[in-house]
Amino acid sequence: MKHSKILFLLIFITNAFVAKADEGMWLPQLLGKLNESRMKSLGMKISAEDIYSINKGSLKDAIVSFGGFCTGEVISTKGLVLTNHHCGFDAIQNHSTLQNNYIRDGFWSKTNADEIPNKGLFATFIVRIDDVSKEALAGVTANMSEAERMAAIDKNLQQINKNTKKEATQKSFTRGFFEGNQYYLFVTETYNDVRLVGAPPSAIGNFGKDTDNWVWPRHTGDFSMFRIYASKDNKPADYSVDNVPFTPKKSLNISIDGIAENDFTMVFGFPGRTTEYLYSAAVEQIRTVNDPAKIAIRDKALNIIDGFMRKDEGIKIQYAAKYASIQNAYKKWQGEVLGLTRTDGVGRKKTQEIEFQKRVDANPSLKEKYGTLLQTLEAGYADIKSLVLARDYYQEIVSKIEIFTIVAQLNSLANAFEKNGQKGFDEAKLKVKAMLEDFMKEFNPKVDRKLFEGLMEMYVKNQPANVVSPMVKTLYDNGIAAAADKIYGENTFTDLSKLNVLIDGKPEDLVAFMKTSNTLALQKDLLATYQTAVQKDLTAVQNRITLAQRTYMQAQMDVFKEKTFFPDANSTLRVTFGKVQGYKPRDGVYFDFKTDLDGVMEKYKPGDYEFDVPEKLRTLYKNKDYGQYSVAGKMPVCFIATNHTTGGNSGSPALDAYGNLIGLNFDRVWEGTMSDINYDPTICRNIMVDIRYVLFIVDKFAGADWLVKEMKLVHPKKK
Ligand code: ARG
Ligand code: ASP
Repeated sequence: MKHSKILFLLIFITNAFVAKADEGMWLPQLLGKLNESRMKSLGMKISAEDIYSINKGSLKDAIVSFGGFCTGEVISTKGLVLTNHHCGFDAIQNHSTLQNNYIRDGFWSKTNADEIPNKGLFATFIVRIDDVSKEALAGVTANMSEAERMAAIDKNLQQINKNTKKEATQKSFTRGFFEGNQYYLFVTETYNDVRLVGAPPSAIGNFGKDTDNWVWPRHTGDFSMFRIYASKDNKPADYSVDNVPFTPKKSLNISIDGIAENDFTMVFGFPGRTTEYLYSAAVEQIRTVNDPAKIAIRDKALNIIDGFMRKDEGIKIQYAAKYASIQNAYKKWQGEVLGLTRTDGVGRKKTQEIEFQKRVDANPSLKEKYGTLLQTLEAGYADIKSLVLARDYYQEIVSKIEIFTIVAQLNSLANAFEKNGQKGFDEAKLKVKAMLEDFMKEFNPKVDRKLFEGLMEMYVKNQPANVVSPMVKTLYDNGIAAAADKIYGENTFTDLSKLNVLIDGKPEDLVAFMKTSNTLALQKDLLATYQTAVQKDLTAVQNRITLAQRTYMQAQMDVFKEKTFFPDANSTLRVTFGKVQGYKPRDGVYFDFKTDLDGVMEKYKPGDYEFDVPEKLRTLYKNKDYGQYSVAGKMPVCFIATNHTTGGNSGSPALDAYGNLIGLNFDRVWEGTMSDINYDPTICRNIMVDIRYVLFIVDKFAGADWLVKEMKLVHPKKK
């Protein structure tokens, strides 16, 4: 009895510290050293050198950061790029009108000549990655303040960048890893002419919309296609009719042999941000304070926007991208709270901390360095609690009332004039005009006014008086509608032609106008209140915590020597790997690892906003007209695996044991969205579109078989 108890405890404790199976987002240049043998034991058939090499074309040369917010991969020797529908959505939306509704109907170019340029969209390749920790941290000492440390590192990084050997078309940047305990240099090459090639209708690319978002089982064909164009000598070039399709160093082969449960798989891409090494109190704050506050604010905003979108097709197009992006994090945070609660994420951290303290106390040199570290963290997080809540309130609310964004633009113009005269004004003017021109396309004053009313009410009512702007309070005294009248009565800010008259007129008139503006006064008061009542203290406490978390990161690496650590995601290129696998979301339920077209038809609701199915797809289904893409008479749609992914991994390729493309990453399962904070291999799964569904839609549904002909389809399982 006693023995088994001890054994149980041992197993429990060991489990808490040994790197959990398949957890981690690994740096590609370190795979050989840290992960290759584990990857091979899971079934990988290629080498780390095939994935990342600076000596030969490797898989990394087919991966791009898509616009800086998603991942894409090159899938033909003519620069064809695959990414998600939701990653290409902004581009698709920008080219959509009520007449040519690419969101609703999809878009397919018939030749290269029809491919549509996208201002501002880029694709960045990683040329190489170097460890520059020593140079970056040169001269940094333990007794520096955070500001001094940052200044010293900044200086070093500038020098590193200057000294980096690179070609004229390449750039370099550095990033801190492990909370700034290590630094890496990235040499990159960016292509700025990226054109839209194809996208399925939303009823496929975003099938199930918000109801199915973050949810498994899933049936979304979340993909779109772009093409990188280059100058005639294959170098990066701004858009020009003379540009030609780019010839990549490497393009991915595509396996249409499909997947089986427990197959090895890896995902290669640009995960945005995770916080896996937080102190328990930080996780508790996210779960009980920050996430709930942000959820409540977004709930309000979404209800308001949705009300308008359902009644007005124009507003529906205007606000579609905005709505989806507000909704996406809103829903993710709910899953995160649920997952952290259900898996006792806080309790797990506490168990680790007890073991940490025990080991530290048992070792004099560790004790001297880290003996009181956990207390420091505890105190820091206690001090920051109300401040981060006020920050979230301010940021969430003010960013969603867009009249403030417009006013800020005009004010920057007035400031430019007062500071740098006519010349400063003229320079700023072009930028502001271009920005507003774009911005106003997706802005509706009626919607914004309702957002103002709803969110300002929360701002006043749900916060302690000391962080509420006095001017909002005064305005609010006469009721929120009267306040809104005062702000939205200044209708210059909500009307592009009036804005342009003001901007094109005399700068003196603009300055005078801004001085009398209620909206500007209010915006300034909101900001000033935030700065004095919140931001000042927040920065001070945050600096203390940053230092303590950095120390704690190093301490965890020093104390848990048996564990291989991966750095938190920071939008740099990473590899994550695992197995194709179903999961058990709750007692009595097991989810299969794959879905197929039958499931699309099960969800089909004729005419529905989320679950309609295009007629052509229904016909293909009825006739089982699947070409070479089906398996045993079924058309595969999505599958899941244990890859540890996060936001930014959207559009990432899912690769098989040989490095062939088998799927396209686009989401995670609801029960496991807390993987950003506390990955749990039993319920964390990434969701991918099966590449055979992508090809089927391109080929059979869209009739764009000319694109499939560009690709190289392979049969690794039929060798
Ligand atoms: N949840 C996915 C990701 O985080 C997909 C989001 C796009 N889809 C949507 N319905 N909003 O970005
Ligand atoms: N959907 C996410 C993205 O856009 C991926 C994720 O969070 O799992 O990057």
